Amino acid sequence: MKIKHILFAISLVAATACCNEDYSWVKNGIDRAKHQLMLTASEIDGTGQLPRSIHVGYDFEMLQRQLEKEIFVDSLRKQPAEDIVGTRRLCGIYDWTSGFFPGSLWYVYEFTGDESVKKAAIRYTELLNPVREYTGTHDLGFMMNCSYGNALRLSPNDTIPAVLVETADNLCSRFNEEIGCIRSWDFGTWNFPVIIDNMMNLDLLFSASRLTGNPYYKEVAIRHANTTMPNHFRENYTCWHVVSYNNDGTVERKETFQGKNHDSSWSRGQAWAVYGYTATYRETGDSKYLDFAVNIADMIMSKVTTDDAIPYWDYDAPVTEETPRDASAAAVTACGLLELSTMAKDGQKYFDHAEKILKSLSSDAYLAAEGENQGFVLMHSTGSLAHGSEIDVPLNYADYYYLEGLQRYMNLKGIEYKNL
Ligand code: GLY
Repeated sequence: MKIKHILFAISLVAATACCNEDYSWVKNGIDRAKHQLMLTASEIDGTGQLPRSIHVGYDFEMLQRQLEKEIFVDSLRKQPAEDIVGTRRLCGIYDWTSGFFPGSLWYVYEFTGDESVKKAAIRYTELLNPVREYTGTHDLGFMMNCSYGNALRLSPNDTIPAVLVETADNLCSRFNEEIGCIRSWDFGTWNFPVIIDNMMNLDLLFSASRLTGNPYYKEVAIRHANTTMPNHFRENYTCWHVVSYNNDGTVERKETFQGKNHDSSWSRGQAWAVYGYTATYRETGDSKYLDFAVNIADMIMSKVTTDDAIPYWDYDAPVTEETPRDASAAAVTACGLLELSTMAKDGQKYFDHAEKILKSLSSDAYLAAEGENQGFVLMHSTGSLAHGSEIDVPLNYADYYYLEGLQRYMNLKGIEYKNL
C-alpha cells in the first residue's frame, strides 16, 4: 500500500472514531446474508448443484419497449413452466456463476468467524474441484478465484495453490498471441469473441504468478488488458460488451450480447470495466490503468440517474416505471470504486458513491427479508434482459459482490463485525 492510501484509510478510521457512525446497516446486511446463505446451503445439500437465481418468465411487450425494437421469440430464453416460476434456479459446477455461492459463504465466514459457515464454504468450494480441468470458457476466474481464491486467503492449505495454477494454465490456453487476448466464448458466430467481463478473470492470473513466481500469467493478463483498452472503449469511456477479432488481431465486430443495443452502455459491463482496470493498476502499479479506471468511474457516476444509485439494467434503457434495475451492476461498481478510492487523487468521491450504493443495497428495498427470496440476499438484479433471462431477480453474483463490497468498506473504515 502506498503512503497516500494508508493516509486515506487512516483518515476514514479517524472519521469513524470521532463521529460514532451508525453501522447497524452493515451488521444487518451481514446477519441477513448469513441466515439466507446457510438456509440455502442446507436446502440444496446433496443436489450437487449451486444456487443461481429464481425462475421467472418475461413480458414480451415489456422487452420490446425496453429494447426499443421488434424482437423474435426464438431469440429469447424459453418461458419457464408455470409450476417452476418462483422456485430457486440451481446451476451445475460448469456454469459461469458456480463460484459465487461458495465465495459468499467465505465472506460471511470472514466476517463472523462462524465455523459452521466455514464448513459450508469448504463443502461448496470442493464441489468445484473438477472445474480445474475445464477449458471451455474464460469464466474460470469467476468460478475458481471466487471460491478457491477466497479459500486460499481464509483457510490456506497445500492443495489449493495447485488447483488455482492448473485453472490459470487452462485460462491461458485460451490466450491468442497474435490477437493479444483471451478468448471468452466458444459459442456463437463471432470469430474470436472477447467480452468486457473477461477483465474480471485476470485476478486469477495475477494470483498464479504470485503463487508460482512465474511471470507468464501476469504477462498474459497485461496483454489482455492492453488489447482491450483501445478496442473495447468508446471515446467517452463507455464500453462495448463484445469485441470479436480476426485472426490477425484486427477487429471483426463490436457488439452487445446482453445490453440494449450495440451502441448502448450495458450497466454490468461498465461495472466489470471499472473493477477490472482498477485491479490491473493494483497489480502493475502502471498509472495508465489508474487513469483509465478513473475515467470509467467518472463516466459511470455521471450516468447513474436513480436517487439510490442503483442503475437500471442498461444506462441507455428508456426509463419508465417498469424499467428493471440491476443490483448486481451496483454491487460490482461499489467494489471497484472502493478499491479505486484508495488509489485515485480524488478518492473520497468514489468512496462516497460506493457507500451510497452499499447503503441502498442494505435497505429493505433490496435486502431480502429473512427466509424470503429463495434464500438469496439481494433482490432486483437483471441477468440478460435482451434474452428474456433473469429479469428483476436475485443473482448469486449480486450477493457475492455485495459481500465483497461490505468487506472492502469495513476494511477501509477499520470496523469489525464483532464490534458492531
Ligand atoms: N458474465 C456474464 C454476465 O455478466 O452476465
